[in-house]
Amino acid sequence: MLVDSTAVTGLNDPAFFDRYANEYDENDYEPTPTVDFLAGLVPEGGRVLELAIGTGRVALPLAARGVSVEGIDGSPAMVEQLRAKPGGRDIPVTIGDMADVSVDGPFRLAYLVFNTLFNLPDQARQVDCFRNVAQVLEPGGRFVIECFIQDLTEFDRHQRVATRALSEDAVNMEFLRHDPVEQAVTYQRVTFDEQGTTLRPLRLRYCWPSELDLMARLAGMRLSERWTDWDRSTFDASSRKHVSVYEKP
Ligand SMILES: C[S@@+](CC[C@H](N)C(=O)[O-])C[C@H]1O[C@@H](n2cnc3c(N)ncnc32)[C@H](O)[C@@H]1O
Repeated sequence: MLVDSTAVTGLNDPAFFDRYANEYDENDYEPTPTVDFLAGLVPEGGRVLELAIGTGRVALPLAARGVSVEGIDGSPAMVEQLRAKPGGRDIPVTIGDMADVSVDGPFRLAYLVFNTLFNLPDQARQVDCFRNVAQVLEPGGRFVIECFIQDLTEFDRHQRVATRALSEDAVNMEFLRHDPVEQAVTYQRVTFDEQGTTLRPLRLRYCWPSELDLMARLAGMRLSERWTDWDRSTFDASSRKHVSVYEKP
């Protein structure tokens, strides 16, 4: 099937990540700076909710610090990977759409890392997500998100083709289409190797930081901190990503 960013493709279904569950943890990822930041927001304990908990790359080390983490994820196969890890059965996880936040609060902290807010299909569902998070936060509770800032100079006439890795036996390329109206980028990451062709599609609906602040405001929250990264480095016009903390009054 030819994927178009405006077509209904299933790329934003809550269970879409089932197809990546077996290989997801192969990506290098160092959760310690994230875990340090999040644990530092709940020094006195309290319930913490991870939206899109996935294979538990952040939740498990956070729980190992004594934080009471719970999770939501749309992909049963990703959650199976979490369950198979030490401590993975002790974390309560609800299978469902993170935009609905169908869990009972109150939580002291909710977080959504690794650009995953952008997995929601459109602005309306992203607004729902903020609103529903605010409803399960206790007064003074915080919502932390980590997102990239879309670099529009990457595209030439709303397209991009790039070689991500190349060797004598294989090449890994990425094909992107940008929809400036929906603020959506549809990716097809393709590996050509001795096994043949492997396609890894993805669709992300990106938001500008100012749009996120407005979503928070619609949900009755306000921005309390914004950094370039988990190490609290200064956020400015050159930042390519941000970690933002919203607070419920
Ligand atoms: C990029 S992974 C991030 C997982 C984890 N937070 C981490 O940092 O490793 C994205 C996760 O979001 C989940 N996801 C995507 N869309 C979702 C939705 N609408 N509702 C719930 N989970 C969703 C996927 O199943 C997957 O586990």
